[in-house]
This record gives sequence, structure tokens and C-alpha cells, in this order.
Amino acid sequence: MRPPLSAIDADLISAADYERRAEQHVDAPAWAYLQGGAGDERTLAANREVWREWSVLPRMLRDLRGGTTRCELLGMSLAHPLLLAPVAYQQLFHPDGEAAAAMAAGVMGGAMVLSSFASQRLEDVAEAGSAPLWLQLYWQGAREQTLALVQRAEAAGYRALVLTVDAPVGGVRNREQRAGFHLPEHIRAVNLPQPLATPSLAEGASAVFDGLLALAPTWDDVAWLCRSSSLPVLLKGILHPDDARQAQQAGAAGVIVSNHGGRVLDSGWPALRSLPAIRAALGGEATILVDGGIRRGSEVFKALALGASAVLVGRPYVHALATAGALGVAHLLRLLREELEIEMALAGCRTLADITRACVCRADGSDFPG
Ligand code: FNR
Ligand code: LAC
Repeated sequence: MRPPLSAIDADLISAADYERRAEQHVDAPAWAYLQGGAGDERTLAANREVWREWSVLPRMLRDLRGGTTRCELLGMSLAHPLLLAPVAYQQLFHPDGEAAAAMAAGVMGGAMVLSSFASQRLEDVAEAGSAPLWLQLYWQGAREQTLALVQRAEAAGYRALVLTVDAPVGGVRNREQRAGFHLPEHIRAVNLPQPLATPSLAEGASAVFDGLLALAPTWDDVAWLCRSSSLPVLLKGILHPDDARQAQQAGAAGVIVSNHGGRVLDSGWPALRSLPAIRAALGGEATILVDGGIRRGSEVFKALALGASAVLVGRPYVHALATAGALGVAHLLRLLREELEIEMALAGCRTLADITRACVCRADGSDFPG
């Protein structure tokens, strides 16, 4: 395993380059944890393939002076619509961990969602940089325990809460199992009381339904959470328009359309395909983010065209973190922002608001105008 770079090599010019390079900087079991998906990894593969279903249809000769990738999100003003997704245990990939990622997001004018399973204290990550931080929550089995985490986030200046609802049980992670992945002694979810006590099971009871699911939140808990925090709450892992509507009714400030990077439900649905219907269900003003397989500025563009207010990237910034720490993450964000900027300029879009459904076309041409 190579130590991280202290400067950016000239051949690191896209997310794919960072992915190739990162493997040299991560041990094999941790690499399996990072890269893997559930089951036969069909959801994971679909997350990459789905972007091919759309093409960008450019418009010429518009006056694009004053163009910008600036993004207004939940009252925050960001330099671009790329957020760092919540990814657990980042010290597996670089000793500077989540703090380095947060610092890079801040330098690049973006935001970061810190995982409940962060390997560094949420207060320390907040001190590490200037990026607006959102805290991703895994339900802590009961309201009081969840509230304790929420109150820490509020006190530390976090700006939003992201309740992940698509992983009440971990997926079937065969790639990790085959690689023998387990957390090293010195890395753990330091923000959580350890371990979350599961109810003792009666003979014949299901470890899934009577164990883990007994600790999972329901819609009543979502409504309670939205009432109990001064911060906006987003639900992450929504794919069905009816669930998006229910989130809105429960008081959520937004949804993150996601299949968790293909890591949970096997043979799941690609998030991008849900976007147009969820935008239609929630209306033009709603805050809707999407993630899964975004590796290019053109893919950010397509997500925005199909209804996203902003996007999250997961694995790509972890590749950059493993390769070159905070510097790598900042560079990766710069590459993606610049790709988006060039895509906008070539497509004839001056601002994010100009990136509409009319800017993309189904790859089979079935909705080509005229
Ligand atoms: C994740 N993801 C995730 N999501 C979440 O809500 N809480 C978490 O703790 C984690 N942890 C995590 C670890 C690792 C190693 C990965 C790769 C992903 C999911 C993540 O937030 C996001 O939804 C996906 O990673 C997006 O897909 P891409 O960009 O990785 O393709
Ligand atoms: C994962 C969990 C931590 O995807 O969300 O690995």
C-alpha cells in the first residue's frame, strides 16, 4: 500500500483517474468495503449505466455572460451544486479522515454531509473547515438517543439533518465478506454510544424483523424528528413518489433520491429514473437531491435537468481522499465543478435555473422535439 501523495500528479484529471489510482493507497479489504454493492451488484452497475439513458441537447448563440454554477440550497449559498455524501469511517482511507474532506469542501465553496458513522468527532470535523455541514442520522433505536445526537449537531453549528431511511438492515455484502473486511481496532463510530443494544430475541424470532427492524424509525418518528429540531430534515433513500409526498407531509424539508450507492437493496431501482416523478410530486420549490454513480460534470447536468436541486458524490471523493488527502478532495471537486461549468456553457445554460428538462433528451430520441 502506498502512502498518500503530497502533491497532485499531472495524470489525475478526472474522477476515473482517481478511482484507478486510489486502489494503490487502500488495503484490499477496505477497498472491497468502499467499492462493493449488495448481492450481485446489479444496483451498483445500474447506477453507472442509467446516465447513458439521457443525452444533452445543446442550444447555441445565447448570451451567457455572467454565467455561474452558484447554487442556493436551504438558505445556503454554495459555489456549485456538488455535496460530499455521507460515507462512514473515512480514516480507513486517510489518517486525516472526515476533517480533511470537510476542509476540502469548504475551500471549494461546497458542503458536506457527515455520516453518523464518522470516525472523527462531529465537533472536531466542524472545527476543521468552513464548509456548511449537514449531519446524516441513523436512527438510534429510540427518540431520546436520536435527539442527543441531533442536539450535538445543533450545538456544533450543523445546518441540516439527513435521516437515512433505506438501510434499516445492512445489505448482503458478499464482496466485503469474501475480502474479510472488518473495522480495525482504532477506527470506530466515535459519535455513537457503542454498541446499539438490540433486543434479546425469543426462540424462533427473526434477527431482521424482531431485532434490527424493532429499532428502525417509522413515519411517526420522522414527523417527531421534524418537530423536535430547529434544523431542516431531509430523508435520504427515497425512490417512490408516494414516499416523497409522505416525507413532505411529515414536515421534511427535502428528500435525497438515492439507493445508497447500490449497497443495500439488491436489484434496486436507479435513483435517476425516479427524479422526474418525484419533482412532479413535490413541486418546483422543493429541495430534492440525488446520488448514485455521478462521476462527470455532464452527469451533474443531467441530474439537474431531470429535477435535482443539487447532487451528492460518494465514492469519487473517497478515492481522492485516499490518493491525496484534503488536497485530492479539493482537486476532485474542482474537476467536477469545471466539467459542469463547461457543460453548461456548451449547452447554452447561464445558471442552474436554465438547466431544465428541455436541455436533455432520451438517448433513444423518443422525446426529441420538433
Ligand atoms: C456510503 N453511504 C452512506 N450513506 C449514509 O446515509 N450513511 C453512511 O454512513 C454511508 N456510508 C457509506 C459508506 C461507503 C463506503 C459508501 C461507498 C457509501 C452511501 C452514500 O452516502 C451515497 O448514497 C452513495 O455513495 C452514492 O453513490 P456513489 O456516488 O458512491 O456512486
Ligand atoms: C454503508 C453504511 C455505513 O453503506 O451506510 O456502509
